[in-house]
Amino acid sequence: MPELAPTPTNPRWTHVADEPTLRGAGSGLAVSPSSAIDGAGRGLATPRPSAIDGADLAASGALRERITGPSAAGGHTAAERIARPRVLSVIGARPEIIQAAPVCEALAPVAEEILVHTGQHYDEAMSESQILATRLPRPHHNLGVGSRAREVQLDLARERLEELIRAERPAAVIVRGDTNATLSGALAAASCGVPLVHVEAGLRSYRKEMPEEHNRIETDRLSQVLCAPTEGARRNLESEGVVGEIHVTGDPLCDTLESWRAQVRPAGAGDYLLATVHRNYNTDSPERLAAVLACLGRAPLPVLLPLHPRTRGAIDGWGLQAPANVKLIEPVTYTRMLELERGARAIATDSGGVQREAYLWGVRCITLREETEWVDTVQTGWNTLVGCDPDAFAAALRTPLPLERPPIFGDGHAAQRIAQVVVDYLGCSHQALGEGMPPGGEAAPLAAGLGVGAGT
Ligand code: UD1
Ligand code: UDP
Repeated sequence: MPELAPTPTNPRWTHVADEPTLRGAGSGLAVSPSSAIDGAGRGLATPRPSAIDGADLAASGALRERITGPSAAGGHTAAERIARPRVLSVIGARPEIIQAAPVCEALAPVAEEILVHTGQHYDEAMSESQILATRLPRPHHNLGVGSRAREVQLDLARERLEELIRAERPAAVIVRGDTNATLSGALAAASCGVPLVHVEAGLRSYRKEMPEEHNRIETDRLSQVLCAPTEGARRNLESEGVVGEIHVTGDPLCDTLESWRAQVRPAGAGDYLLATVHRNYNTDSPERLAAVLACLGRAPLPVLLPLHPRTRGAIDGWGLQAPANVKLIEPVTYTRMLELERGARAIATDSGGVQREAYLWGVRCITLREETEWVDTVQTGWNTLVGCDPDAFAAALRTPLPLERPPIFGDGHAAQRIAQVVVDYLGCSHQALGEGMPPGGEAAPLAAGLGVGAGT
């Protein structure tokens, strides 16, 4: 059983929380006040000021002037601007922060990336700590949308993103995943007439009451460039007849984990289970959430459950009791999460990211849902869907694990492929991408290696 307090083992992580900034200062862009990402907007009792304030826009304008202005010392020529396009990347919730890091790194030599946080997630543990842990460049803007009713949150983020897109004039907008921030970014790009790139395109749960399903379908429909993590995702897109160009790139979450693999020390020796729960349909009814907790109570070992704030609110609000073997802890940093995942006997989750990470570690996954977007993990025998049925949960813990674990999420170089797809689409030179590209670095041949076990 691991210690509950995070104990970073990797020198890169030590004291990471004390680091004031990592790379943001080099960008020359203004960073929105950190108040935009604290919890001040929680509950919305306090109206949040627009984070695109005058200073931000002035600073963005100043940067644009430095890049494009004819009088700027060392300013870029027109040819250089074409060769190194400006792209605007949107993040908003925890998984987007975690997955953005490798793509930012791959884009850095070939594009001027403006990183925009919508502020959908704002708790220290959900946002700032994750930015530091993954060494994501500090976002240039935080739009401070906070928690709101879905339609209000979508509209507010879209409006603020439109304002920013008009000011920054990017050649493309990049969104990832399936959150409200994703769809807001997609809608803003479409209304401003800017090409849209969707990373993690083509996933489907076919469960209509999930807001994420709506977000994904709509974003894919609006995208000019669709970066599918698996061949199955490509087939989903083809069957829907999307108009954008589809590339199978692999999964940047796999890149992130692989870049840490050698340094991750397991937090235990299979003497505990790790769990996460936050899906709307698992947390929005007391009966369902109680059944999910009852599943965890069937584990013959202690269960560590880092609590998403949504789930914390639901458990507290309904006065639910966790079973005696379940330890509720605060959300942990990504790097600590990797240690906890790697040392666990099994992982029980309803998270998309955690299902993939369990697979990548070779740890049994039990998914507390009736369906999954990540069907390959089930088809290969590493993941079992149990819904909220305690008997099915207990049985899944006893199922033998397969011997093989094919590379269904790519080879750890998805981000480089995505960067190449973006610059190719924009008609730019991509010589700088050559360095570090895997052999046969073109998107098509590498994509061919991703097909094992994929499919819906
Ligand atoms: C969102 C995404 C989901 C993703 C998850 C990752 C949508 C529709 N859903 O779900 O796809 O898997 O993020 O974690 O975008 N809250 C806080 N502090 C925070 C953030 C949220 O207290 O920093 C609480 C608020 O009470 C809020 C609730 O959590 O109302 C839900 O947050 P929200 O961002 O709407 O959705 P998630 O459940 O986090
Ligand atoms: N994660 C984390 N700390 C936690 C719980 C999850 O760092 O306490 C990470 C996890 O390792 C994965 C990502 O968050 O990389 C998944 O995000 P989440 O479960 O919030 O959203 P989803 O993937 O379901 O969209």
